[in-house]
Amino acid sequence: LATFAGEPVAKPAMDAIPERARSLATKTYRPVFWHDDMLFLIDQRALPTDFELTSCNTVAMVGECINLMVVRGAPAIGAAGAYGLVIGARKALSDGGDLAAVVAAAKAAKVELDAARPTAVNLEWATARMAAIAEALAGIDGMTADRLTSTLLTEAHELCDLDVRTNMAMSRFGADLVPEGANMLHHCNTGALATIDFGTALGVIYECHAQGKGVHVWVDETRPRLQGARLTAWELMRAGVPMHLIADGASGGLMRAGKVDVVVFGADRVAANGDTANKIGTYTMCCAARENGVPAYAVVPTSTIDLTVPTGEGIPIEERSGDEVRCIKGAQVAPEDCPVFNPAFDVTPAKMITGIITEMGVCYPPFAVSLRKAKEAAEEA
Ligand code: MRU
Repeated sequence: LATFAGEPVAKPAMDAIPERARSLATKTYRPVFWHDDMLFLIDQRALPTDFELTSCNTVAMVGECINLMVVRGAPAIGAAGAYGLVIGARKALSDGGDLAAVVAAAKAAKVELDAARPTAVNLEWATARMAAIAEALAGIDGMTADRLTSTLLTEAHELCDLDVRTNMAMSRFGADLVPEGANMLHHCNTGALATIDFGTALGVIYECHAQGKGVHVWVDETRPRLQGARLTAWELMRAGVPMHLIADGASGGLMRAGKVDVVVFGADRVAANGDTANKIGTYTMCCAARENGVPAYAVVPTSTIDLTVPTGEGIPIEERSGDEVRCIKGAQVAPEDCPVFNPAFDVTPAKMITGIITEMGVCYPPFAVSLRKAKEAAEEA
Protein backbone atom coordinates (compact mmCIF):
# COMPACT_ATOMS: atom_id res chain seq x y z
CA LEU A 1 0.00 0.00 0.00
CA ALA A 2 2.97 2.33 0.45
CA THR A 3 2.72 3.02 -3.27
CA PHE A 4 -0.93 4.08 -3.21
CA ALA A 5 -1.34 7.82 -2.95
CA GLY A 6 -4.41 8.35 -5.05
CA GLU A 7 -3.09 7.62 -8.54
CA PRO A 8 -5.20 9.21 -11.29
CA VAL A 9 -7.77 7.03 -13.05
CA ALA A 10 -9.66 7.56 -16.31
CA LYS A 11 -12.57 9.95 -15.89
CA PRO A 12 -15.95 8.42 -16.73
CA ALA A 13 -18.00 10.46 -19.22
CA MET A 14 -20.39 12.79 -17.42
CA ASP A 15 -23.37 11.32 -19.27
CA ALA A 16 -22.34 7.79 -18.22
CA ILE A 17 -22.46 8.47 -14.47
CA PRO A 18 -25.57 8.50 -12.28
CA GLU A 19 -27.18 11.82 -11.38
CA ARG A 20 -25.98 11.22 -7.83
CA ALA A 21 -22.39 11.53 -9.05
CA ARG A 22 -22.81 15.05 -10.49
CA SER A 23 -22.44 18.29 -8.56
CA LEU A 24 -24.96 21.02 -9.29
CA ALA A 25 -22.68 23.64 -7.72
CA THR A 26 -19.47 22.89 -9.62
CA LYS A 27 -21.06 21.39 -12.77
CA THR A 28 -18.64 18.48 -12.63
CA TYR A 29 -18.31 15.32 -10.52
CA ARG A 30 -19.17 15.28 -6.84
CA PRO A 31 -16.03 14.93 -4.70
CA VAL A 32 -17.18 11.47 -3.54
CA PHE A 33 -19.24 9.23 -5.80
CA TRP A 34 -19.96 5.59 -6.54
CA HIS A 35 -19.87 4.37 -10.11
CA ASP A 36 -19.19 1.02 -11.78
CA ASP A 37 -18.90 -0.74 -8.42
CA MET A 38 -16.13 1.62 -7.32
CA LEU A 39 -15.65 4.61 -5.08
CA PHE A 40 -14.34 7.64 -6.99
CA LEU A 41 -12.83 10.73 -5.40
CA ILE A 42 -11.79 14.07 -6.90
CA ASP A 43 -8.12 14.42 -5.94
CA GLN A 44 -8.35 17.73 -4.09
CA ARG A 45 -4.56 17.94 -3.72
CA ALA A 46 -4.22 18.56 -7.44
CA LEU A 47 -6.72 21.40 -7.84
CA PRO A 48 -6.82 23.99 -9.28
CA THR A 49 -3.99 23.31 -11.72
CA ASP A 50 -4.98 19.70 -12.42
CA PHE A 51 -8.33 17.97 -12.27
CA GLU A 52 -7.87 14.29 -11.43
CA LEU A 53 -10.06 11.48 -10.17
CA THR A 54 -8.81 8.52 -8.19
CA SER A 55 -10.64 5.38 -7.14
CA CYS A 56 -10.53 3.09 -4.12
CA ASN A 57 -11.36 -0.58 -3.87
CA THR A 58 -9.99 -1.40 -0.42
CA VAL A 59 -10.68 0.02 3.03
CA ALA A 60 -6.99 0.87 3.39
CA MET A 61 -7.11 2.95 0.20
CA VAL A 62 -10.08 4.92 1.50
CA GLY A 63 -8.29 5.51 4.81
CA GLU A 64 -5.18 6.65 3.01
CA CYS A 65 -7.12 9.04 0.77
CA ILE A 66 -8.74 10.58 3.85
CA ASN A 67 -5.42 10.85 5.67
CA LEU A 68 -3.60 12.38 2.69
CA MET A 69 -6.49 14.78 2.08
CA VAL A 70 -7.23 13.49 -1.42
CA VAL A 71 -10.74 13.90 -0.01
CA ARG A 72 -11.18 16.48 2.75
CA GLY A 73 -13.83 18.56 4.46
CA ALA A 74 -15.81 17.09 7.34
CA PRO A 75 -18.98 15.91 5.51
CA ALA A 76 -17.01 14.64 2.48
CA ILE A 77 -14.74 12.47 4.61
CA GLY A 78 -17.85 11.17 6.39
CA ALA A 79 -19.31 10.11 3.02
CA ALA A 80 -16.02 8.52 1.96
CA GLY A 81 -15.99 6.65 5.28
CA ALA A 82 -19.54 5.39 4.69
CA TYR A 83 -18.53 3.96 1.30
CA GLY A 84 -15.40 2.57 2.97
CA LEU A 85 -17.63 0.41 5.18
CA VAL A 86 -19.44 -0.82 2.08
CA ILE A 87 -16.09 -1.73 0.51
CA GLY A 88 -15.15 -3.70 3.65
CA ALA A 89 -18.48 -5.56 3.63
CA ARG A 90 -18.23 -6.33 -0.10
CA LYS A 91 -14.75 -7.79 0.36
CA ALA A 92 -15.98 -10.13 3.11
CA LEU A 93 -18.87 -11.17 0.87
CA SER A 94 -16.62 -11.87 -2.13
CA ASP A 95 -14.37 -13.94 0.16
CA GLY A 96 -17.42 -16.15 0.83
CA GLY A 97 -18.17 -14.67 4.26
CA ASP A 98 -21.54 -15.23 5.94
CA LEU A 99 -23.77 -12.60 7.54
CA ALA A 100 -21.66 -12.43 10.71
CA ALA A 101 -18.44 -12.10 8.71
CA VAL A 102 -19.86 -9.24 6.65
CA VAL A 103 -20.99 -7.34 9.76
CA ALA A 104 -17.62 -7.96 11.41
CA ALA A 105 -15.83 -6.63 8.31
CA ALA A 106 -17.98 -3.49 8.31
CA LYS A 107 -17.18 -2.90 11.97
CA ALA A 108 -13.47 -3.50 11.41
CA ALA A 109 -13.56 -1.00 8.53
CA LYS A 110 -15.11 1.55 10.89
CA VAL A 111 -12.21 1.23 13.33
CA GLU A 112 -9.64 1.55 10.54
CA LEU A 113 -11.33 4.51 8.86
CA ASP A 114 -12.01 6.47 12.07
CA ALA A 115 -8.27 6.50 12.70
CA ALA A 116 -7.55 8.30 9.40
CA ARG A 117 -8.24 11.81 10.75
CA PRO A 118 -9.24 12.62 14.34
CA THR A 119 -10.87 16.07 14.45
CA ALA A 120 -13.91 15.95 12.15
CA VAL A 121 -16.60 14.08 14.06
CA ASN A 122 -18.57 13.61 10.83
CA LEU A 123 -16.28 10.70 9.96
CA GLU A 124 -17.13 8.70 13.09
CA TRP A 125 -20.74 9.87 12.87
CA ALA A 126 -21.06 8.44 9.35
CA THR A 127 -19.25 5.18 10.10
CA ALA A 128 -21.25 4.69 13.33
CA ARG A 129 -24.49 5.22 11.39
CA MET A 130 -23.44 2.62 8.81
CA ALA A 131 -22.21 0.11 11.42
CA ALA A 132 -25.48 0.46 13.36
CA ILE A 133 -27.46 -0.16 10.15
CA ALA A 134 -25.36 -3.29 9.46
CA GLU A 135 -26.09 -4.60 12.96
CA ALA A 136 -29.80 -3.85 12.70
CA LEU A 137 -30.07 -5.52 9.28
CA ALA A 138 -28.29 -8.61 10.55
CA GLY A 139 -31.04 -9.02 13.16
CA ILE A 140 -33.80 -9.21 10.53
CA ASP A 141 -35.21 -12.69 9.91
CA GLY A 142 -34.13 -14.14 6.59
CA MET A 143 -31.41 -11.53 6.01
CA THR A 144 -28.57 -12.72 3.80
CA ALA A 145 -24.98 -11.49 3.56
CA ASP A 146 -25.66 -10.49 -0.03
CA ARG A 147 -28.77 -8.45 0.77
CA LEU A 148 -27.13 -6.79 3.74
CA THR A 149 -24.19 -5.69 1.62
CA SER A 150 -26.33 -4.22 -1.14
CA THR A 151 -28.55 -2.47 1.43
CA LEU A 152 -25.44 -0.92 2.98
CA LEU A 153 -24.56 0.56 -0.40
CA THR A 154 -28.05 2.05 -0.66
CA GLU A 155 -27.59 3.51 2.82
CA ALA A 156 -24.28 5.13 1.85
CA HIS A 157 -26.07 6.74 -1.12
CA GLU A 158 -28.80 7.91 1.26
CA LEU A 159 -26.20 9.47 3.55
CA CYS A 160 -24.95 11.49 0.56
CA ASP A 161 -28.48 12.55 -0.38
CA LEU A 162 -29.07 13.58 3.23
CA ASP A 163 -25.94 15.74 3.14
CA VAL A 164 -27.21 17.59 0.07
CA ARG A 165 -30.67 18.18 1.62
CA THR A 166 -29.02 19.35 4.84
CA ASN A 167 -26.76 21.79 3.02
CA MET A 168 -29.66 23.26 1.08
CA ALA A 169 -31.62 23.82 4.30
CA MET A 170 -28.65 25.45 6.07
CA SER A 171 -27.98 27.65 3.05
CA ARG A 172 -31.50 29.06 3.16
CA PHE A 173 -31.40 29.72 6.93
CA GLY A 174 -28.00 31.35 6.53
CA ALA A 175 -28.93 33.51 3.55
CA ASP A 176 -31.75 35.09 5.59
CA LEU A 177 -29.09 36.53 7.92
CA VAL A 178 -26.97 38.15 5.19
CA PRO A 179 -27.79 41.73 4.16
CA GLU A 180 -28.05 42.78 0.49
CA GLY A 181 -24.68 43.69 -1.00
CA ALA A 182 -22.76 42.23 1.95
CA ASN A 183 -19.02 41.73 1.95
CA MET A 184 -18.55 38.22 3.34
CA LEU A 185 -15.35 36.76 4.75
CA HIS A 186 -14.81 33.00 4.38
CA HIS A 187 -12.08 30.69 5.69
CA CYS A 188 -10.85 27.35 4.26
CA ASN A 189 -13.08 25.44 1.82
CA THR A 190 -16.57 24.52 2.93
CA GLY A 191 -18.17 24.18 -0.47
CA ALA A 192 -19.24 21.44 -2.85
CA LEU A 193 -15.76 19.93 -2.59
CA ALA A 194 -15.89 19.70 1.22
CA THR A 195 -19.34 18.10 1.28
CA ILE A 196 -21.39 16.20 -1.29
CA ASP A 197 -22.76 19.32 -2.97
CA PHE A 198 -23.24 23.07 -2.33
CA GLY A 199 -21.47 23.10 1.03
CA THR A 200 -22.00 24.58 4.47
CA ALA A 201 -20.71 28.17 4.79
CA LEU A 202 -20.03 28.29 1.06
CA GLY A 203 -23.55 26.96 0.56
CA VAL A 204 -24.84 30.10 2.29
CA ILE A 205 -22.74 32.19 -0.10
CA TYR A 206 -24.04 30.26 -3.15
CA GLU A 207 -27.60 30.78 -1.91
CA CYS A 208 -27.07 34.54 -1.38
CA HIS A 209 -25.69 34.75 -4.92
CA ALA A 210 -28.61 32.72 -6.33
CA GLN A 211 -31.06 35.03 -4.54
CA GLY A 212 -29.43 38.00 -6.28
CA LYS A 213 -28.22 39.58 -3.05
CA GLY A 214 -25.14 40.98 -4.78
CA VAL A 215 -22.66 39.66 -2.23
CA HIS A 216 -18.89 39.82 -2.58
CA VAL A 217 -16.55 37.35 -0.87
CA TRP A 218 -13.12 37.85 0.69
CA VAL A 219 -11.51 34.41 0.39
CA ASP A 220 -8.82 33.61 2.98
CA GLU A 221 -6.05 31.66 1.26
CA THR A 222 -5.87 29.33 4.32
CA ARG A 223 -2.27 28.28 4.85
CA PRO A 224 -0.77 25.75 5.07
CA ARG A 225 -2.85 23.62 2.66
CA LEU A 226 -4.34 26.63 0.82
CA GLN A 227 -7.88 25.27 0.67
CA GLY A 228 -9.12 28.86 0.19
CA ALA A 229 -6.75 29.76 -2.64
CA ARG A 230 -6.90 26.39 -4.39
CA LEU A 231 -10.45 25.20 -3.79
CA THR A 232 -12.76 28.02 -2.66
CA ALA A 233 -11.45 30.43 -5.29
CA TRP A 234 -11.91 27.66 -7.90
CA GLU A 235 -15.49 26.99 -6.79
CA LEU A 236 -16.56 30.64 -6.56
CA MET A 237 -15.03 31.55 -9.90
CA ARG A 238 -16.79 28.62 -11.60
CA ALA A 239 -20.05 29.83 -10.08
CA GLY A 240 -19.44 33.47 -11.04
CA VAL A 241 -19.60 34.74 -7.46
CA PRO A 242 -17.69 38.06 -7.10
CA MET A 243 -14.63 37.48 -4.89
CA HIS A 244 -11.10 38.48 -4.03
CA LEU A 245 -8.47 36.13 -2.70
CA ILE A 246 -6.62 37.56 0.31
CA ALA A 247 -3.63 36.48 2.36
CA ASP A 248 -4.85 35.16 5.73
CA GLY A 249 -3.21 38.06 7.53
CA ALA A 250 -5.24 40.61 5.52
CA SER A 251 -8.63 39.82 7.03
CA GLY A 252 -8.10 41.71 10.33
CA GLY A 253 -7.25 44.95 8.53
CA LEU A 254 -10.27 44.57 6.25
CA MET A 255 -12.55 44.15 9.26
CA ARG A 256 -11.03 47.20 10.97
CA ALA A 257 -11.57 49.21 7.79
CA GLY A 258 -15.28 48.28 7.80
CA LYS A 259 -14.98 46.17 4.65
CA VAL A 260 -16.47 42.97 6.09
CA ASP A 261 -20.16 42.73 7.01
CA VAL A 262 -20.34 39.07 7.99
CA VAL A 263 -17.93 36.19 8.63
CA VAL A 264 -18.99 32.63 7.72
CA PHE A 265 -17.10 29.39 8.30
CA GLY A 266 -17.73 25.66 8.66
CA ALA A 267 -16.66 23.33 11.45
CA ASP A 268 -15.18 19.91 12.05
CA ARG A 269 -16.60 19.44 15.53
CA VAL A 270 -18.79 21.59 17.76
CA ALA A 271 -18.71 20.81 21.49
CA ALA A 272 -21.91 20.77 23.58
CA ASN A 273 -21.24 24.33 24.80
CA GLY A 274 -20.71 25.73 21.28
CA ASP A 275 -16.90 25.81 21.27
CA THR A 276 -16.10 25.15 17.62
CA ALA A 277 -13.11 23.40 16.03
CA ASN A 278 -12.41 24.46 12.47
CA LYS A 279 -9.46 25.01 10.14
CA ILE A 280 -6.46 26.66 11.76
CA GLY A 281 -6.85 30.43 11.64
CA THR A 282 -10.58 30.47 12.35
CA TYR A 283 -9.97 31.56 15.95
CA THR A 284 -7.73 34.46 14.87
CA MET A 285 -10.37 35.55 12.32
CA CYS A 286 -13.12 35.42 14.96
CA CYS A 287 -11.01 37.47 17.43
CA ALA A 288 -10.74 40.24 14.84
CA ALA A 289 -14.45 39.94 14.03
CA ARG A 290 -15.40 40.34 17.70
CA GLU A 291 -13.01 43.27 18.18
CA ASN A 292 -14.61 45.02 15.20
CA GLY A 293 -18.25 44.13 15.87
CA VAL A 294 -18.58 41.89 12.79
CA PRO A 295 -21.05 38.98 13.21
CA ALA A 296 -19.43 35.55 12.86
CA TYR A 297 -21.53 32.50 11.98
CA ALA A 298 -20.52 28.85 11.97
CA VAL A 299 -22.53 26.81 9.45
CA VAL A 300 -22.71 23.16 10.51
CA PRO A 301 -24.90 20.13 9.95
CA THR A 302 -26.12 18.66 13.25
CA SER A 303 -23.83 15.69 12.50
CA THR A 304 -20.93 18.03 13.34
CA ILE A 305 -22.30 18.70 16.84
CA ASP A 306 -20.74 16.34 19.39
CA LEU A 307 -22.75 16.44 22.60
CA THR A 308 -20.42 13.87 24.18
CA VAL A 309 -17.69 16.51 24.34
CA PRO A 310 -18.67 19.19 26.90
CA THR A 311 -16.23 21.92 25.79
CA GLY A 312 -13.61 22.61 23.16
CA GLU A 313 -10.93 21.32 25.54
CA GLY A 314 -12.12 17.80 24.72
CA ILE A 315 -11.85 18.10 20.92
CA PRO A 316 -8.85 16.20 19.53
CA ILE A 317 -6.78 18.50 17.33
CA GLU A 318 -4.93 16.84 14.47
CA GLU A 319 -1.25 17.73 14.04
CA ARG A 320 0.07 17.24 10.53
CA SER A 321 3.50 16.97 8.97
CA GLY A 322 5.83 19.96 9.25
CA ASP A 323 6.42 19.69 5.50
CA GLU A 324 2.99 21.26 4.96
CA VAL A 325 4.40 24.49 6.43
CA ARG A 326 8.00 24.15 5.19
CA CYS A 327 6.82 23.68 1.61
CA ILE A 328 4.14 25.00 -0.73
CA LYS A 329 3.07 22.46 -3.37
CA GLY A 330 6.35 20.60 -2.91
CA ALA A 331 8.56 23.72 -3.18
CA GLN A 332 10.63 24.40 -0.07
CA VAL A 333 9.93 27.87 1.43
CA ALA A 334 11.62 27.50 4.85
CA PRO A 335 15.07 26.28 5.81
CA GLU A 336 15.40 22.52 5.40
CA ASP A 337 14.56 20.72 8.67
CA CYS A 338 13.21 23.97 10.15
CA PRO A 339 11.28 22.96 13.32
CA VAL A 340 7.55 23.32 12.69
CA PHE A 341 4.36 23.13 14.77
CA ASN A 342 1.43 22.36 12.48
CA PRO A 343 -1.98 21.96 14.15
CA ALA A 344 -4.59 21.54 11.41
CA PHE A 345 -7.44 23.04 13.45
CA ASP A 346 -8.10 25.49 16.26
CA VAL A 347 -11.01 25.97 18.64
CA THR A 348 -13.02 29.18 18.66
CA PRO A 349 -14.71 29.72 22.04
CA ALA A 350 -18.51 29.83 21.88
CA LYS A 351 -18.61 33.41 23.19
CA MET A 352 -17.01 34.62 19.95
CA ILE A 353 -19.66 33.06 17.71
CA THR A 354 -22.82 35.04 16.93
CA GLY A 355 -24.84 32.02 15.81
CA ILE A 356 -24.50 28.43 14.65
CA ILE A 357 -26.55 27.75 11.53
CA THR A 358 -27.82 24.15 11.26
CA GLU A 359 -30.32 22.39 8.99
CA MET A 360 -32.86 22.68 11.83
CA GLY A 361 -32.49 26.46 12.12
CA VAL A 362 -30.10 29.00 13.67
CA CYS A 363 -28.82 28.26 17.17
CA TYR A 364 -28.08 31.25 19.41
CA PRO A 365 -26.55 31.43 22.90
CA PRO A 366 -26.92 29.75 25.27
CA PHE A 367 -25.59 27.14 22.86
CA ALA A 368 -25.74 24.37 25.46
CA VAL A 369 -29.53 24.59 25.14
CA SER A 370 -29.99 25.49 21.46
CA LEU A 371 -27.51 22.92 20.10
CA ARG A 372 -29.10 20.11 22.10
CA LYS A 373 -32.55 21.08 20.76
CA ALA A 374 -31.26 21.17 17.16
CA LYS A 375 -29.58 17.80 17.53
CA GLU A 376 -32.71 16.23 19.06
CA ALA A 377 -34.91 17.75 16.35
CA ALA A 378 -32.65 16.31 13.64
CA GLU A 379 -32.73 12.87 15.24
CA GLU A 380 -36.56 12.95 15.34
CA ALA A 381 -36.88 14.23 11.74
O1 MRU B 1 -8.34 19.92 6.72
P1 MRU B 1 -9.62 20.06 5.94
O2 MRU B 1 -9.43 20.70 4.61
O3 MRU B 1 -10.38 18.77 5.88
O4 MRU B 1 -10.47 21.06 6.82
C1 MRU B 1 -11.75 21.41 6.40
C2 MRU B 1 -12.36 22.44 7.26
O5 MRU B 1 -11.80 22.86 8.25
C3 MRU B 1 -13.74 22.86 6.93
O6 MRU B 1 -13.95 24.18 7.30
C4 MRU B 1 -14.72 21.96 7.69
O7 MRU B 1 -14.48 20.62 7.41
C5 MRU B 1 -16.11 22.28 7.40
S1 MRU B 1 -16.45 21.94 5.70
C6 MRU B 1 -17.98 21.74 5.34
